[in-house]
Amino acid sequence: MAHTVSITVNGTAYERTVEPRLLLAHFLRDTLGLTGTNIGCDTSQCGACTVMMDGAAVKSCTVLALQADGSSVTTIEGLASDGKLHPVQDAFWEKHGLQCGFCTPGMIITVVDLLNNNPHPTDEEIRHGLEGNLCRCTGYHNIVEAVKHAANAMPAAEAMPEETREHAHA
Ligand code: FES
Ligand code: FES
Repeated sequence: MAHTVSITVNGTAYERTVEPRLLLAHFLRDTLGLTGTNIGCDTSQCGACTVMMDGAAVKSCTVLALQADGSSVTTIEGLASDGKLHPVQDAFWEKHGLQCGFCTPGMIITVVDLLNNNPHPTDEEIRHGLEGNLCRCTGYHNIVEAVKHAANAMPAAEAMPEETREHAHA
């Protein structure tokens, strides 16, 4: 039986009728047309589908749209503001933290979450924090460099998109 859900995505409230088994990843991509969130596996391992939900990074292929009812979600499309890249996006650009780019949206969301919780992580903490995000291209070195660059470039409060901040501290 279909249900109606209300989910705020990148600051816009959406009300949609969904099937009970619809995954949040498919809701974002197919229902809302936000295709920046990628789907790279069917085993919950690659992290390409990572989005921010109520201030915490989640793999959107492991969450039902129904479970996201009432929540606030930020996808890669919602990170930039006023035409300016988010500092983490900027750092990936500066430090060549991507090649094909398939893992990048999920990777960047995970990094935003990581820096929210640990504004100045060590190399080891960065690698540990990114364990759930697989990249087949970069060998991770430049990603770690990008995270450190982002950490130096931004005050901690900037890490989190505004609309998710209050939820994270609720
Ligand atoms: S698509 Fe979600 S973890 Fe791979
Ligand atoms: S840049 Fe290609 S998978 Fe990471």
